[in-house]
Amino acid sequence: MTAQDFDLVIRRARVATASDTFDSDIAIRDGRIVQLGTGLAAGQREIDAAGRVVTPGGVDAHCHLDQPMLAPARMADDFESGTRSAACGGTTTVIPFAAQEKGQSLRAAVDDYHRRAEGLAHVDYAFHLIVSDPTATVLNDELPALIGEGYTSFKIYMTYDDLKLDDGQILDVLSVAREHGAMAMVHAENADCIEWLTRRLEAAGRTAPRFHALSRPMLVEREATHRAIALSELVDVPILIVHVSGREAVEQIRWARAHGLNVFAETCPQYLFLTAEDLGLDDSYQGARCICSPPPRDKRNQDVIWNGLNDGLFTVFSSDHAPFRYDAPEGKKPDGKEVAFRHIPNGIPGLETRMPLLYSEGVLAGRMTLNRFVELTATNPAKAYGLHPRKGTIAVGSDADLVIWDERDLTLRNQDLHHNVDYTPYEGRALRAWPGVTLVAGEVVWDGAFHPRKGRGRFLPCGQPSLMPRRSPMPPAVRGEAA
Ligand code: URP
Ligand code: ZN
Ligand code: ZN
Repeated sequence: MTAQDFDLVIRRARVATASDTFDSDIAIRDGRIVQLGTGLAAGQREIDAAGRVVTPGGVDAHCHLDQPMLAPARMADDFESGTRSAACGGTTTVIPFAAQEKGQSLRAAVDDYHRRAEGLAHVDYAFHLIVSDPTATVLNDELPALIGEGYTSFKIYMTYDDLKLDDGQILDVLSVAREHGAMAMVHAENADCIEWLTRRLEAAGRTAPRFHALSRPMLVEREATHRAIALSELVDVPILIVHVSGREAVEQIRWARAHGLNVFAETCPQYLFLTAEDLGLDDSYQGARCICSPPPRDKRNQDVIWNGLNDGLFTVFSSDHAPFRYDAPEGKKPDGKEVAFRHIPNGIPGLETRMPLLYSEGVLAGRMTLNRFVELTATNPAKAYGLHPRKGTIAVGSDADLVIWDERDLTLRNQDLHHNVDYTPYEGRALRAWPGVTLVAGEVVWDGAFHPRKGRGRFLPCGQPSLMPRRSPMPPAVRGEAA
């Protein structure tokens, strides 16, 4: 290759993939990696990484952007501010959710979500679906067609009145996942237990934000996780349990794995870096900032999550970015009021901080290898949702989505972040690293300053999840025959 062949060469990178770490230059042309090796020919532009670690750009496979909400709630981040914040924190692909409202066609939900994304994104994006109304048309026509068009994963809720499915509906939807090779993600919390506990807490006048955690103890997550596993076993289809918070759900997933079931799992920064105490030690409303579901647990459960990240229990590490402003009538103070916890929108911001938090507290604190970091934050999410090897790795032919890391001490401040939320749950936290440069398709998007180009981000149709095992013959019970 001659100099003119390379648009950009990154020199002297310490390249980390999910399997290897090696010294290399990285040559880029037309947005893709075209050569790896030392002493590559000069490019039209050059960046000297000077021995710094270079990882694949992050793939955040669980974030919520501009998702339609019941009034007065409204998400603070749309595709513009959300992907801006992603890029500045080293994430170069996001997979938010096209959510079906009950009574709405799934196709209409997808079309609406494309309109919300069109021309705004700074990084590439794909869509998961949320199936909240599995009518015969959805099950027989819309969902199979959409899977074929590249929407190969969908989320099922076992809680939230406007989204939840009952067990029969879950079985129906899982059967479509099996038939068409899609990945089913499950939000596992027992809705009836939560409602019963919430009413008891309210009757006792315990409505401050901190009681949110008491209304959703680990037991409700454990029961629903167990049930989701049983339903997936009955249908004989893999599932991925999202936002696992602690020991009791982890035990269910370990049990399933030990019994040979294909149960994948995701966890999130809030289960490593927050506890229920962040929802408040007294009845102050400030704790509303950290209301999310499942709620953060305690230090012992944080250790359980760290162990699961290291020993392979968890497949992916996502942000579950669900952005609501704290001091806003469309956010944590509905209509401007401090309300009972059941009325506070669930979710916390985290797109920009996911990668630096795990790099600092995992890799640099000696809790996790660099290669496992890459696997959890980029490679596995790309595999789980059918985007690998285009995304999630550093290899010839892959998109040139890269992060050059700066290992330096800093203090996390919301004023330095790029989302549209008025707080971060991690304010004041000491970090040891931040992306020095983020490249999307070979273009510098972040180098300490943000370089906007709305519409740079492209929609990515997803292939079949490559983590899926080959499909076994349908078991007799599923075919409706005696075993
Ligand atoms: O509290 C959370 N996690 N909100 C976002 C929606 C969800 O269930 O992931
Ligand atoms: Zn969820
Ligand atoms: Zn979520």
